[in-house]
Amino acid sequence: MKIFKFTAISCLLAFTVINGVMPAFTIAGGLIDMGYGSRGGSMVSGLKRSEEPIQPIPISFDDDRPKIELGKKLFFEPRLSKSGWISCNSCHNLSTGGADNLPSSIGHKWLFGPINSPTVLNAKFNLAQFWDGRAKDLKEQAKGPIANPMEMASNHELAVSILQSIPEYMGWFKEVYKDEKITIDNVADAITAFEETLTTPNSRFDLWLRGYDRISQSEQEGYDLFKAKGCINCHNGFGVGGNSFQKFGIAKPYDKDTQTLGRCNVTKNEKDKYVFKVPLLKNIELTAPYFHDASTWSLSEAVNIMAEYQLGVTLSRDETNKIVAFLKTLTGDQPSIIFPILPPSTANTQKPDRN
Ligand code: HEC
Ligand code: HEC
Repeated sequence: MKIFKFTAISCLLAFTVINGVMPAFTIAGGLIDMGYGSRGGSMVSGLKRSEEPIQPIPISFDDDRPKIELGKKLFFEPRLSKSGWISCNSCHNLSTGGADNLPSSIGHKWLFGPINSPTVLNAKFNLAQFWDGRAKDLKEQAKGPIANPMEMASNHELAVSILQSIPEYMGWFKEVYKDEKITIDNVADAITAFEETLTTPNSRFDLWLRGYDRISQSEQEGYDLFKAKGCINCHNGFGVGGNSFQKFGIAKPYDKDTQTLGRCNVTKNEKDKYVFKVPLLKNIELTAPYFHDASTWSLSEAVNIMAEYQLGVTLSRDETNKIVAFLKTLTGDQPSIIFPILPPSTANTQKPDRN
């Protein structure tokens, strides 16, 4: 098997193409997927357009493979849910941009959650997790859905006891954490290690930022409009968002959903009513419907809503089309994942309960 892998990266090496070849290797958990960071072969380093307010997604190096491999299994592990049917991947489907393309997710007993599921792709670039930022990081976030009655509906003791009933998991946790017992903290830690590999470098726009002319004239005009109209004030950085909390409805009150209070739930501060974490726009074309309330399936309409409610401007059709064209250049290489094979349950494994 020949898998290309970036072995080194240095901003000093302007426009150097770095290729390396690495074999797959095995650990106790089986074949390690060498594909996390490998995105198609070659990558350039050297920031030609480094003054831009958007940065290319860095190529990451997967340094702790046994932990990442364990985290990947857990991400796909439906037995972490009470029904034995729902995994993280059910709602953050890595085949569909790390989200579920539903207005709101379907959880335990077919319950519909109150809010649209954000993507897990590039989530490590968020200043906090969830729309209202109530989890400070990925590790704190990962414990939430397992015990959320509307999501996986399990509890941490049950989830841990299920993993402990499966000898393979006991072995992998022991190998990674040097501990005879499995803890929910280590479950979250391993899932986090896997999530941190879920980045999407090499979008056409990122390549443009690195000095390659990979975007068209109208896509570049879209980017110029994105800056000139003021979108860039909130959507910038590696993820084109994710680094601030902002009110939805600055120029005009957002009236389509007045029930979801956003950041105010966390801070209890009236001025944080309708304040949300600015979503990442990298891969945005993959993750319709849009907004926390999924009020539109159309990216053009989402752009127009932003212009109207955040900036108080009306875009011409041509301007909207160009901004949308620019947004579509933000889709990067999706993580290439070898589907994990999970170990069988034993006689001691708690049976699924769909009630
Ligand atoms: C039933 C569907 C469902 C399942 C299962 C689920 N999630 Fe989520 N996830 C959501 C929804 C909905 C949100 C947004 C909730 C909010 O902001 O209030 C979310 C938010 C997140 C976020 C925050 C992203 C951001 O931009 O703020 C991460 C990371 C995440 N989930 C990872 C996971 C992991 C890891 C698991 C498995 C342990 C998991 N999710 C299981 C639906 C789900
Ligand atoms: C003042 C800050 C701010 C400005 C300016 C702004 N946005 Fe946003 N943007 C947000 C916030 C906050 C959200 C999340 C709103 C919600 O769903 O609650 C968002 C959501 C979005 C979404 C939907 C993302 C998703 O995953 O659902 C798109 C697309 C978007 N913005 C594009 C734009 C464009 C294009 C512009 C310029 C016309 C723009 N934004 C201007 C803060 C801003």
